[in-house]
Order: sequence, then structure tokens, then C-alpha cells
Amino acid sequence: MQSAGTAVSDRFELIEVPHASGAASFAEDVAAGLNASPKRLSSKYLYDRIGSALFDAITHLPEYYLSNAETEILRESGWEIVRVLDEPIDFLELGSGSAVKTRLLIADALRVQGSLRYSPIDISTDALRTSSLALVEAYPGLSIRAYAGDYFDVLASKTLQFERRKLAMFMGSNIGNYEPGEAARLLRLLSAALSPGDGLLLGTDLKKDRATLEAAYDDPLGVTAAFNKNILERINQQLGGNFDLRNFAHVVHYDEERGSVDSFLEARRAADVFVESIGARVAFSEGERIHTESSYKFSDRDVARLGAIAGFRLSSTWHDRAQRFSVHLLVRT
Ligand code: AVJ
Repeated sequence: MQSAGTAVSDRFELIEVPHASGAASFAEDVAAGLNASPKRLSSKYLYDRIGSALFDAITHLPEYYLSNAETEILRESGWEIVRVLDEPIDFLELGSGSAVKTRLLIADALRVQGSLRYSPIDISTDALRTSSLALVEAYPGLSIRAYAGDYFDVLASKTLQFERRKLAMFMGSNIGNYEPGEAARLLRLLSAALSPGDGLLLGTDLKKDRATLEAAYDDPLGVTAAFNKNILERINQQLGGNFDLRNFAHVVHYDEERGSVDSFLEARRAADVFVESIGARVAFSEGERIHTESSYKFSDRDVARLGAIAGFRLSSTWHDRAQRFSVHLLVRT
């Protein structure tokens, strides 16, 4: 039921935040990464249309327990989570929240306080528009101010506005894709956009045995392999590359020291690859790898330590029943 003045379009606003000048383009990042030693490509380039669809498929794989475990936590404890700050809240999410998980928290918050402002930040304007319109349609008490842009750019832009206490959310172990220094830098920026007493809900995958972790990133169906190799296809399509995808194998390795599951593309035999729009010839020796992703794993103490660096104190932690994943509420000090 909707009353006059609460039409869907009145409850949805989109703000586009431009990319910081001087920031590297896909072509520049690819050129730098393929010329580096060891070779690397940033995992942020895994998510074009096909990559996003493949990641969505990954979340349905039995081996990739992360999504189900986090959803279980929010189903069980969402009602408690939205009450911890003990006053009416607004949501700020890094990510566009089309997922069931955001819906669970929105529904729980609306049961407690009747109205809610939700501000998702996402690089994809299309994803933001689609998910936001579906959400305002589904929840009459919800209004959305969405920010299209890079997390760092939006947080640094000072365009965020809130009236209530804020609950920021960074779910799905997405923080795990950042190298430790970058993760700290992102959380510090977020901390600067919040006020003392505001919350940060952080979903992180727990450190655990190698077999479980490596299986989660190397499923027998080959969906994760396709997700990883798609970055080469994207270079072929968008930058005029001539990678032979059949010559590259998906390889994962849990580096226990760093606490990261690292994903690579490994050349089966020596090859020369040419990428037209960066004018580069890249030589691969047999067995040479490109690092494409780090997926860091965190003990609860690791999270407390990371939070402290950025001005947060760990207030509560929830685990799934099988103790695979955790959701933390950190409070801005
Ligand atoms: C979306 C970053 C949380 O690292 O677990 C899934 C991405 N990569 N399978 C992760 C991913 C391979 C995922 N995150």
C-alpha cells in the first residue's frame, strides 16, 4: 500500500560521483600488471557483466559456503543486529545490495523503526538502479539515496548525508579482497565519514583448514575457473588482446602465513601475448602465473586489530552454526 507522495520515484535518488582525476584506467592497470614481476591483475576487473553473473553462480555452489553461512547469520540474528545501536538508524552499504542479505536487514530494521534511509555505494550505475528500484518497490517505508562511484571516491567526496545514527555495512567478505594496507585505508575513510557511536557491520570469512578453503575457490564444476579466466577474455575484448584462454589454468593456493586464498592464472606452456591497445607484447614462460585475486581470511582477533587501526572497537560478533563465517559489529570510537 502506498499513500500519495511516496511514489517509487520520490523515494529513489541517484548521485554520480566522478572518478578521482589521475586514477588509473583498465588499460593502464593491465599494462602495469602484466609488465610487473610477478605478473598481476586487479580482482576489481573480474566483475563485468559475465563476471558478475559467474560470481552470482559461485554463491550457489556447495563448496562456496560463504554466502549461505552469512545469510544464516543474518536470518538468525538480524533482529538483534539492527537493535544494537539502540536508536533509529540509516544504512550505508559498500556494495549495491541486490542480495537477499541486505533485504533481510532492511526488513528487520523496518519492523523496528517503520522508516529507513538506505544509501548503497556501487561502481555500477546499472546495478544500483536495478536493485534500488526493486527495493523501494518492495518496501514502502524505505527511501534510497544511491551513490554511483568507486568506494574510495564516494567516501572521500563528502557528499554523504544522514540524519540518524548510521549503520555502515560491508558484507560478503568483500573486505578480504583488499591487501591489508588498502583494507585499513578504506576503513579509515569510512570511519571519517561516520560519527562516534555509529556502527560498521563487517562480514568476514574465518580462517580454517586448507582443504575447505581451497575447495571453495576451485569448484569441480569449473565455475570459479571460468570467473577467473574471464579477466583474460575481457582484456581480449576490450583491449584487443590475444590471450588463448585454453593455455591458462585456474590455480588456487592458501597462503597460511598471510591468511589469504590466492588465485592465479598459470600458463600451461610458454607463449607470447599481444595486447593491442596498450601496445604491449607480454612473454610467458611455461608455468608462469598471473596473480588475480587475494581472498583474506580473518580470525575474530584479526578483525578487532584491523578495526582498531581505523578507529573502530569490536562490539559484537556472530558466527554461523558450523563456525565458518563471522559477522561483526564495530563501533566508531
Ligand atoms: C566477492 C570478494 C567475497 O573473495 O570470496 C569468489 C570473490 N572469488 N570466488 C571472495 C570470489 C572467487 C569473493 N568476494
